[in-house]
Amino acid sequence: MNERDSEAVAAQLVAKGYTLAASEAVADVVLLNTCSVRDGAEQKALAKMQNLAAEVRRNRPNVVLGFMGCMAQSRGQELIDKLPDVDLVIGTQKFHRTADYLDEILAGRRDKVCDVEAESGSEAAIKEHLLYGNPPANDAPRQVTAFVSIMQGCNQYCTFCIVPYTRGPERSRAIPDIVAECQELVARGVKEITLLGQIVTSYGRREIGAKDGESAFVQLIEAVHAIGGLERIRFTSPHPKGYGDDLVEAYGRLPKLCESAHLPVQSGSDRVLKLMHRGYTRPRYLSIIEKLRRVQPDIGIGTDIIVGFPGETEEDFEQTLSLVREAQFDQAFVFKYSQRRDTPAASMPDQIPQSLIEERHAELLKTVNEIVARKLQRFVGQTVQILVEGPSRKNPARLEGRTRCNRIVVFEGSERHRGELMDLRICRASAHTLYGDPAIVGLEAEDRE
Ligand code: 5AD
Repeated sequence: MNERDSEAVAAQLVAKGYTLAASEAVADVVLLNTCSVRDGAEQKALAKMQNLAAEVRRNRPNVVLGFMGCMAQSRGQELIDKLPDVDLVIGTQKFHRTADYLDEILAGRRDKVCDVEAESGSEAAIKEHLLYGNPPANDAPRQVTAFVSIMQGCNQYCTFCIVPYTRGPERSRAIPDIVAECQELVARGVKEITLLGQIVTSYGRREIGAKDGESAFVQLIEAVHAIGGLERIRFTSPHPKGYGDDLVEAYGRLPKLCESAHLPVQSGSDRVLKLMHRGYTRPRYLSIIEKLRRVQPDIGIGTDIIVGFPGETEEDFEQTLSLVREAQFDQAFVFKYSQRRDTPAASMPDQIPQSLIEERHAELLKTVNEIVARKLQRFVGQTVQILVEGPSRKNPARLEGRTRCNRIVVFEGSERHRGELMDLRICRASAHTLYGDPAIVGLEAEDRE
């Protein structure tokens, strides 16, 4: 979500005549987009800003430094008061004003700007923010995959989560707007689109509603599915509460919809799920996974889990461990509970001591990693379809792509493979990555001749 927002702001600035700098060392403006979902993310952004102030500002005093996004929204003016090098603080609902504020600061008309006003009532502002495209390609290599925002905000109010306060209430874009943006991306060569929202399964519930037993979200997937030239569709994140049979069934019927789902569970204990205000039970969650695997046996299922939620007992934690074993996730992010300001959980009794949180985190991570590694090993020897995205992030001499079930595969290839769907034989697996062997594919091609 933040990556997409950063792209949108970059595109806005480029449209207004700015150019993307090669690095922060030569930039005239450095904006840090921030996340406040856990304290660690906030501390990282604060440290990075202090570092920019010390390193970049010292040599070039006229550089403009700013915070945008969730931490900007929740801390506002406090950031300028604490860090006097900060010139601009721009909230999640004011991204569309970034270029105007920068112009004013750079022209010397204003010294510092902090705008974190909520604009949830203003449709115009939401649209403006959402509709900015990706930065123009210039000489950049062709983009193969893209994120498209379909909605903003969240109404779920999970008791641990700061997002409803930083992103505001749910509001969805219209289907034709989203389809038009996707069409434009596909016309530029994009092959895979990931539909983005805090809770995509709530998409258009209020604005569009269900039709013939189909939720607005499934109607949207169908509309995007009809775009010629688009090869793959993904979305993130759904909420178990809204994972209806219409969506499960869509995996069986829509070939572009990839066999992959990131379905945050948060806890395996019904008691904790209730305290978290998640709106589903353990059996309901497990039944969704079972249904998905019935429709698509090879579906890759990922999740998020929090350990150390206030009041989590040893027994609750055991329930989470047993859920992880039962669900056999293909990927899982394990988070240490982090107290967030103004959330109900922050003032709940029985906050868990940090040492116990660390202990449970380590134990759960070990369990998760064993399962994930075992599931990854099963790919060795199989042939899988990947969409080649570009050079590998870890080793730019190689290329990487993703399987339909969202596994990264690294292989020896060349730039001309970018954007291609290829069948690769998996020759080995490390902890998180698969390695494919195009030489074997080459041999197979010869065999066929
Ligand atoms: N503490 C720890 N993890 C959190 N998440 C959200 N809020 C918190 C918090 N206060 C995690 C959830 C969510 C993911 C994006 O971040 O697991 O799914």
